[in-house]
Amino acid sequence: MSNLSHLSPIRDNLGRPLKDLRVSVMDRCNFRCIYCMPEKKFHSGFNFLKSTERLSFQEIFRVTKLFSDLGVNKVRITGGEPLLRVNLSELIGDLSTLEKIEDIALTTNGVLLKKYSEELKACGLNRITVSLDSIDPEQFTAMTGGRGNLDTVIEGISKALSVGFKKVKINAVIKRGTNDDQVMEMVDYFKGQSVIIRFIEYMDVGNLNQWQLNETVGSHEIIAKLSEQWALKPLDRNYEGETAERFQIADSETEIGLISSVTKPFCGSCTRARLSSDGKLYNCLFASEGRDIRSLIRSGKSDDFIRNEIASIWKDRKDRYSELRYSEKSDKTNEKVEMYYIGG
Ligand code: GTP
Ligand code: 5AD
Ligand code: SF4
Ligand code: SF4
Repeated sequence: MSNLSHLSPIRDNLGRPLKDLRVSVMDRCNFRCIYCMPEKKFHSGFNFLKSTERLSFQEIFRVTKLFSDLGVNKVRITGGEPLLRVNLSELIGDLSTLEKIEDIALTTNGVLLKKYSEELKACGLNRITVSLDSIDPEQFTAMTGGRGNLDTVIEGISKALSVGFKKVKINAVIKRGTNDDQVMEMVDYFKGQSVIIRFIEYMDVGNLNQWQLNETVGSHEIIAKLSEQWALKPLDRNYEGETAERFQIADSETEIGLISSVTKPFCGSCTRARLSSDGKLYNCLFASEGRDIRSLIRSGKSDDFIRNEIASIWKDRKDRYSELRYSEKSDKTNEKVEMYYIGG
């Protein structure tokens, strides 16, 4: 096999290395969160991808290997809801054999964790992040479009912890007027458990959620609120380009993270490429178009050819949407890719 180390890591047009690959394995979800897949639009007649349109596990494995040749050492499996993909552990098991992949994480809504935590641990998954926006049962059900049962998700988190996933992360998107009361509630509830709670600023991803700036609760506001009750000790970032700013609640093990992509964008250190479940490569969460990698695979192109294509797409990359959000350079008329299709 040829030595590809000279290729790695490649850098984009703004000097950012390619380090993370986020793979959406399933565009469907068993929730209908109000800000992501509003029921009105995602009704029973909605045209989700056909299974033949989704990349197969072999195709995902092959593409991930090519990405790892170019510098990727971290993979996040997302959806929609990735645990709806049959036999997902087999894919994760295969990915964990890739020499250069050091970290495999999963983002899930937690519903199926009770069922799958054991096999996910056994197949080599390193980390789990659960999206959970409220620990008020009624509010939770309302936010998930009437589909979510809070107890099921809480049981799922407990199961993940019990099979040995350490420090499960909980991602809570805070929307003003909807669940802003949950900042204190969630910290109170999870304090003392082996979890990391991350509050995410509600963003203008996609075109379906009719986002308005006044619905975003800025991280500074969240910190101020938490500080009324707890002393917060700032922690260093775990790695260059980490999305979350970290704090520890004094005299406890509990870690809080704040992801401020609206008020404090982090495009300058963004090393993330995103692959949709039908094999389109997106350079940014806010991109309007992806590049079709699936057609390269299915038309029989060689590894070298596909790797070169990926490299040239990354080298051309100039995206920094969050930093340009309010500037004249940003194209506000853009059709943006939806979160359910590309993952978080
Ligand atoms: P760790 O590897 O655990 O640090 O995960 P992560 O923070 O890289 O990924 P995660 O999926 O947990 O990200 C949490 C949330 O941060 C997502 O749901 C998005 O709302 C937001 N986010 C993650 N990556 C980006 C990004 O590249 N750009 C923007 N604008 N937001 C992002
Ligand atoms: N703003 C911020 N985060 C979002 N997510 C989905 N939509 C948004 C949005 N508009 C998050 C979910 C989940 C991940 C997949 O993306 O909460 O954690
Ligand atoms: Fe599903 Fe996550 Fe979107 Fe909610 S935010 S509808 S759980 S993909
Ligand atoms: Fe990266 Fe785009 Fe998010 Fe900026 S807005 S951090 S470039 S994904």
